[in-house]
Amino acid sequence: MDLNAIRQLADTDMQAVNQLIYKQLESDVALINQLGFYIINGGGKRLRPLLSVLAARAVDYQGEHHLKLAAIIEFIHTASLLHDDVVDESTLRRGRETANALFGNSASVLVGDFLYTRSFQMMTELDNMKVLQVLAHTTNVLAEGEVLQLMNCNDPDTTEANYMRVIYCKTAKLFEAATQLAGVLANVSPEQEQALADYGKYLGTAFQLTDDLLDYTANADELGKNIGDDLAEGKPTLPLIYAMENGSDTAKKLIRQAIEQSDGTKAIDEILVALEESGALIYTQEKAQVEAQKAIDALSIFPDNSYKQALISLAHLSVNRSS
Ligand code: FPP
Ligand code: MG
Ligand code: MG
Repeated sequence: MDLNAIRQLADTDMQAVNQLIYKQLESDVALINQLGFYIINGGGKRLRPLLSVLAARAVDYQGEHHLKLAAIIEFIHTASLLHDDVVDESTLRRGRETANALFGNSASVLVGDFLYTRSFQMMTELDNMKVLQVLAHTTNVLAEGEVLQLMNCNDPDTTEANYMRVIYCKTAKLFEAATQLAGVLANVSPEQEQALADYGKYLGTAFQLTDDLLDYTANADELGKNIGDDLAEGKPTLPLIYAMENGSDTAKKLIRQAIEQSDGTKAIDEILVALEESGALIYTQEKAQVEAQKAIDALSIFPDNSYKQALISLAHLSVNRSS
């Protein structure tokens, strides 16, 4: 299934999710509406809510709570992006100016807080303690992931294991919650709930590995973000970690210095060659593919239907993308 077919399959649900999102965005405070609309309406892929919807349908959920769950997940994700672009000092996202570039850091952080706290208001409406527990834990892990990553910044000795922990926390955990909770709403068996959680976890890991690869290989126009941002921040992502372990001595030295001094963009062309020659780009891509396959394997316990097929296709698409 291609992305259009997947979106078509979930279209009715996703339209309802969008309506909910816009309704919940409303506030008496003008700047919240303005900035909130800017970020929510900014060409995001709505991938996480789509996962909740597809997972709920894949296990034949008959209620309507998955729509609210999907909106909650998108609010948490959007809040985290508002904070993330401030922390990362990013100026471009989804091919447009970031909210912080346009409205300033304070407004971005605070509207992020609005979206984040609104998501918890919505959670209470679901009246489901398990949902509340999982999402309270998930958002806490998200914050931990960002702090861990901050600690790794400018540290060329960051290990692959350490990096994997960061991407699990900052990205995969929310994917995991998105799919696991669809199962919780549908009252699936513990085994099926675990399988849905695993699918989300592996997919999220594959997605972030690909994200970190694209930071070196993508075309900025297509990606809608600036290329080399990670390098400019001295962020030791997997391509760099691998090249430092397996590249030539010159490559090792070059990358160590780039990470330590956050000045890698000066040497971006040489670093790209080092990543290529050491096999770091292929290694990262293959690791993403392995994770995507693990996601697909996790779904094997479910009977086949078009929604399961859509989830399988999304796993393939998450690693074979250019934006
Ligand atoms: C994008 O990563 C950022 C995240 C996946 C998570 C951000 C989380 C926080 C800032 C903390 C939690 C905040 C709340 C409100 C729960 P990236 O910077 O690697 O990717 P990018 O290229 O898209 O910016
Ligand atoms: Mg960022
Ligand atoms: Mg970040």
